[in-house]
Amino acid sequence: MKGIILAGGKGTRLYPLTRHTNKHLLPVGPEPMIYNPVKNLVACGVREILVVTSSLHMGDIVTSLGSGEEFGADFTYKVQEEAKGIADALRLGRRFAGDESVFVLLGDNIFDTPLVRFVDNFRTEQKEQGARVMLVKVENPSDFGVAALDEKKVVEIQEKPEHPKSDYAVVGAYLYDTRVWGVIDGLKPSKRGEYEITDVNSAYIEQGALQYDFVQGMWMDTGTFESYHRANELLFGRLGKGK
Ligand code: DAU
Repeated sequence: MKGIILAGGKGTRLYPLTRHTNKHLLPVGPEPMIYNPVKNLVACGVREILVVTSSLHMGDIVTSLGSGEEFGADFTYKVQEEAKGIADALRLGRRFAGDESVFVLLGDNIFDTPLVRFVDNFRTEQKEQGARVMLVKVENPSDFGVAALDEKKVVEIQEKPEHPKSDYAVVGAYLYDTRVWGVIDGLKPSKRGEYEITDVNSAYIEQGALQYDFVQGMWMDTGTFESYHRANELLFGRLGKGK
């Protein structure tokens, strides 16, 4: 299994903080944001990691992360020329992944909980076939990909729906087999002009090949000022300790 961290995009929701730098280099707690996905992958034993970002910020990302040695990892870097969506950024990982499955983390998702069980379940229950996502109950489902569930399965995922069918957001941690590259080849841009990761997950639902786990512990998307602020509090240890 190989790791892919997606750290492109424009970070416009965090302007002016992101005018001069990449969102994923902003501090969250005592470290740059992108250290969190790196450490989470390494903690799962995934050490070969591709980092995708824009050409504008590639230099700063490489300066911050280096070769990977410091993290016990081995980094490869790829430029996403235009911010055409999460699935478009993932597409760049095809040759890097080869015939292995991939563990994809969005660079702006902070997990303060080990993801080992998620990977173990993909290995044992699915033999690394199909796809696996993580869900969490949120108060603002319309800001995320939202999963509609029946007793055991995800039956549908909608991207930022106006009228969400549940409170379960699909977070930015995805496990895929090699079918993902064919799925991405078949994608069309969404109404907002992006290649959506939700459309990738929907293709796996259609094939009856998508499983899920619930997030255990703390998770944050840091895409807005409010969530960025809360992620900082979380990683400084103020949340959860009653301070
Ligand atoms: O945080 C979880 C949510 O992330 C999911 O629930 C949604 O289904 C998913 O679409 C995504 O929504 P966001 O609106 O938060 O996505 P955003 O555009 O902020 O991009 C998330 C990360 O993906 C960001 O850290 C950078 C990376 N990215 C994004 C785009 C658009 C790229 O690498 N390239 C891109 O072109």
